[in-house]
Amino acid sequence: MNPATAWSNYNNTSLTPSTLRFITDDRSIKVICSTKTVLDLPYLWLRDNCSCDQCRVTAFQEKEFIVCDVASDIKPRHTELNKDTLTIVWPDNHITNYQLNEIYDLSESRHPEPKNWTERFKPEIFDWNSFLSHEICAKNAFRSFLELGAITIINAPKELNSLELLAPRLGPIREVLFDRIHNVSVKTHAYNIAHTSLAVPPHNDFASYTTPPTVQALHMLENQVEGGNSIIVDAWKLVEELKQDRPDYFALLCRFNVPFREFDDENETYACEPIIRCDSRGKISSVRFSNQLMQTVNPKQRNVAEFYLAYHDLCRRITDPINHCKFRLQAGEILLLSAHRVLHGREAFFPNAVRHLQDAYFELDNIINKFFIMTEKTGR
Ligand SMILES: [Fe+2]
Ligand SMILES: [Zn+2]
Repeated sequence: MNPATAWSNYNNTSLTPSTLRFITDDRSIKVICSTKTVLDLPYLWLRDNCSCDQCRVTAFQEKEFIVCDVASDIKPRHTELNKDTLTIVWPDNHITNYQLNEIYDLSESRHPEPKNWTERFKPEIFDWNSFLSHEICAKNAFRSFLELGAITIINAPKELNSLELLAPRLGPIREVLFDRIHNVSVKTHAYNIAHTSLAVPPHNDFASYTTPPTVQALHMLENQVEGGNSIIVDAWKLVEELKQDRPDYFALLCRFNVPFREFDDENETYACEPIIRCDSRGKISSVRFSNQLMQTVNPKQRNVAEFYLAYHDLCRRITDPINHCKFRLQAGEILLLSAHRVLHGREAFFPNAVRHLQDAYFELDNIINKFFIMTEKTGR
């Protein structure tokens, strides 16, 4: 039984608080449920996280106590467990209390965890007015967005720069060089392949930034051309499959630096970063992929041949239509993407009519903030 299961059994009353006990050793207090250790709490952790009024600035719940003010081998003078409350008396008679259920809550995710796309996945659709004016609609949209990395907002205005109106909902626009709101058409400020009628392979924007924007909104203002269907790809899923099939390729793509550049007469953006990033738990946190912005890899770099085999494999997966979610983005529709996870591209089109898209960028942290505040107000 793992600790979480033991605790859930405890909460389900098959094990009562009276079956909880603790033992202490040189470095920690171990809380034991039945015969299993369900919490192992190091003394420095216990002292550092004391939430009493002396250890916190109570108005902000921020920590005032700093751990180096006590010896690193500090040990309690006395410890007591009374139902759910763990009380520790320290050598200087400072008293710390913990509610065990609050310690267990630390394992809960603060926001919805990513979910895999189904075979026929299409981004969930939300109405512009409802999204902007109704908290419940916005909360549902954010949940879908945080789980699946893509939603579509329909019935949006078809006026220029309407993406500005999303800022109260999503948080401030993340500005990057070139433009604040980026125009994508064959007639506007041209600095990359998107400003042609060519097919654009799936990519994320601004791979040439050390930290590219984490959220992208693509707003179709006019779309009268033949062709030009939008394509999105769940890069995390493909990279997870690559990891299963070729762990050696995966490992190399996590550590091999690749140069990306985007520029015009006035701007020069450049970053040399690995294609895959994982968080400290080993979970994929970002895929950086842009065929159009990728620069010449220095052939003197180590493992270039191996990198190219791994990169070839990843390119094959990303460009395989079987992995594509494809649809036509109509005028007045906005595609909102979790940009470190979902790549976007488009099919070629005939430039015989108008196709005008605007892009703006936002930040995932701000959306998570909005979702968290809404959840606090309205419940899950
Ligand atoms: Fe793009
Ligand atoms: Zn304290």
